[in-house]
Amino acid sequence: MPWFNNLQLRTKFNLIMSLLLVFLFLTAAFLTYRKQQQLILKFAEDNSRILARQIIETRDYMSSAVRDEAENNYDLVPQVVATQVAKKITAGSPYYVRQVSLRYRNPDNRPDNYETARLKNFSLQKLAESSSMEAVDGKRTFRYLQPMVAVESCLACHGDYDKAPAFVRARFPRGHYSYNYKVGEVIGAVSVSIPMAGLYRQIGANMKQDLLYRGGIFFIIILVMGWILRRNIIDPVKQLAVSISKVTRTGSYADRLPSLTNDEIGTLIGSFNDLMQELQQKDQQSSEIDARYRSFFEMVPSAVVTCMQDGRIIMSNQRAEKLFGVSRKGLLGESIFDFIIGEAARNELFATYLKDGRIRLVKENSFQTVRCSHDRLTLMEIAIAASEGDQPPLFTVILRKILTV
Ligand code: HEC
Repeated sequence: MPWFNNLQLRTKFNLIMSLLLVFLFLTAAFLTYRKQQQLILKFAEDNSRILARQIIETRDYMSSAVRDEAENNYDLVPQVVATQVAKKITAGSPYYVRQVSLRYRNPDNRPDNYETARLKNFSLQKLAESSSMEAVDGKRTFRYLQPMVAVESCLACHGDYDKAPAFVRARFPRGHYSYNYKVGEVIGAVSVSIPMAGLYRQIGANMKQDLLYRGGIFFIIILVMGWILRRNIIDPVKQLAVSISKVTRTGSYADRLPSLTNDEIGTLIGSFNDLMQELQQKDQQSSEIDARYRSFFEMVPSAVVTCMQDGRIIMSNQRAEKLFGVSRKGLLGESIFDFIIGEAARNELFATYLKDGRIRLVKENSFQTVRCSHDRLTLMEIAIAASEGDQPPLFTVILRKILTV
């Protein structure tokens, strides 16, 4: 990922942190949302169960208590009482309760497709209840059914036609399928529907608020972490980089950085300061040695130059400058063989060999023709020393006038 490597440390950090936090928050939000969903589902199921139980108990009680009263007052028919009670209990709530039967008397109690399927299921298997999430008119709806089983008292009106009260016989003639139930047979079910859209909307709103809070916290975390990162890592490292590039630019080792912490960055800065201290000392020492060497160089009562193997002059003393009639600047970079002339000189003078791992000159002393100032040619005694430490070797050449007695 070259684009990532090219990013600033802080951007990288922010990017990684953001991704991690977003992932974390979304996962947490998703889990909370799912948990809440499960909770309201459980809540809906529990409520439906209690509601159904109440209605069934009401009907059972009415069925066992009512004798001939319903004859004169149809409102005392167990089904009618249970329906009224259910209506009153659920008034003002989104709950919708019905009591349905496959062999219904009142067309209002005709089961819909969903209820029909469940009722058939109840008749086949002994189930205590059944519930599921369904789409009703495109809206998510929780649906719950609890079966009603015929007990002895029900058979007074739902058993043999001949034994049924007159008002029942009058309404539902012989052969009507609402007769002939047996004890233990499923006679119908309490059916509860709860539209979930409103409840889900509430969780959605909760989640949005949750995300907003989390987003705020997330933002603060990024800001604080970014600030800590910048203060403790990025700024000191940047300062260090600036100091190092200053050293390479100016060659000065005077810079020191403030080390404020005892952590890895503090150690790094401490090491940098130590390094600078060391280099500054070495620099000072070597310039002292240089100065001493130069003064010694000047004290020698002969012309002295230091050359590379190809003859290039890198150092000279005043006597040499005077001898050749060239300034120090003029001499630097010139070849010594412009002054010590003759083919033999070039071939022989700096010829070396190795002995015991040390550089030795083929010829240490010789007489050579030297071109002095004003192009005067003079025969001079030349003494050469090869430095052993330097690779490639440096040659110090001493030129002495031949004293004529
Ligand atoms: C006093 C007579 C009587 C008794 C006792 C009785 N029922 Fe009914 N039942 C009726 C009548 C009448 C209806 C029709 C009500 C209506 O018009 O809404 C009915 C309706 C129902 C319904 C609704 C389906 C439909 O047919 O419209 C169910 C379910 C039901 N009864 C179950 C029971 C159960 C279970 C018992 C026993 C616990 C019971 N009934 C006891 C008279 C009775």
